[in-house]
Amino acid sequence: MDLTAYERRLDRPTRVKLPEFQTNGRLKHVIFADQFDRPMLENFNNLSNIVRELARDRETQLFLHNLLPQKRAMLYFSQASTRTFLSFTAACQLLGMSIAEIRDPSVSSEYKGESPFDSMRMFSSYSDLVVMRTPSAGFAEACAYLMNDLDKFNERTVPIVNGGSGADEHPTQALLDVHTIQRSFEFKSERDSSRWAQFDEYRKMYPDLTRGPDSKVYGFCGDIRRGRTVHSLASLLANFSDVTMYFVSPPDLGLPVALRESLLGKGVKVFEHDTLNDIVQNVDLLYMTRIQWEHDKDTAKGSGPAPVNADFILTPELADRMKSYARIMHPFPRNAEIPPEVDHNPRAMYFPQARNGMWVRAALLAHLFDVDGLIVSHHRDVFSEYHNYNTASS
Ligand code: CP
Repeated sequence: MDLTAYERRLDRPTRVKLPEFQTNGRLKHVIFADQFDRPMLENFNNLSNIVRELARDRETQLFLHNLLPQKRAMLYFSQASTRTFLSFTAACQLLGMSIAEIRDPSVSSEYKGESPFDSMRMFSSYSDLVVMRTPSAGFAEACAYLMNDLDKFNERTVPIVNGGSGADEHPTQALLDVHTIQRSFEFKSERDSSRWAQFDEYRKMYPDLTRGPDSKVYGFCGDIRRGRTVHSLASLLANFSDVTMYFVSPPDLGLPVALRESLLGKGVKVFEHDTLNDIVQNVDLLYMTRIQWEHDKDTAKGSGPAPVNADFILTPELADRMKSYARIMHPFPRNAEIPPEVDHNPRAMYFPQARNGMWVRAALLAHLFDVDGLIVSHHRDVFSEYHNYNTASS
């Protein structure tokens, strides 16, 4: 991927770039986790919960479906994906959008030598938004600059959404991860009643436990150096207060210096460890990741998943040593770092986490197309009617 024309802009500090990815205080492109501050995270959490609730009922689902029928999304995934592709597809369908896709550049005119940037201009000609997954760090960001340049010449431009770029960032994954954490750490249970609450039970054992992502210990394990989900999630969690992070990885796959500096600069307490065994009993949330062997594909290590060192495997015994309220997450795909026997551990959140991607990505699309306010007010109307109805009949 030749990014030479964008090199000067790509090399700037993130904080300098951020204004170029928003307009009138709203997101214009979604490229970095650092675009989200705490109020935005609270808003997206709320909006995602509302979308989830509206999608439960046929009538309110129809309301969502009628919001964006005139909009078309292009899903350009030149690197393998299951969850990001399917959850963006589902999110578009929830909002009534239509979808076009290219998942293999060898079946597009890139095979005939068309540059990826020309491809991107073509996508923007036929669609209203491009979601892209790419093996090249910086490519999604460069495409956002391309769109901004077109805008200056009054040419057609569309939002670019980074669905995972090389080993650097995966901001929409981080958004769904934080949403999962926000929901988990509300400590609500279907069994909660006026006489019993899950949170009160936990507090009997852990009197200092508080609700929400603040004052928590987050453990990250696996390929920390190349794990774009880890980079983006750690950046988002740094928005919360009194946060501690433990990173556990093989020595050559440790925390990148720039991320470490950035987290420390935001007041996060950062520790690095050699084995999960050292941290499992201390974390409130454990974020497992696989070793990303595909980045080594030009070497002998890159032929497929290698046996995982026992120091980075969450065995059922280790999972049982975690605090009773702690949660286990994983962006998936997994290899051997979480054996399937852990799936039934009540702390395991990774399947609900993946499903949350659908609600969060629908919320994000609604924000980008400025229909989020309509969703919130419709929800308020429907649920206040529901409430009035119940009150009247009781
Ligand atoms: N978490 C994630 O990005 O999964 P996919 O690679 O399957 O999209």
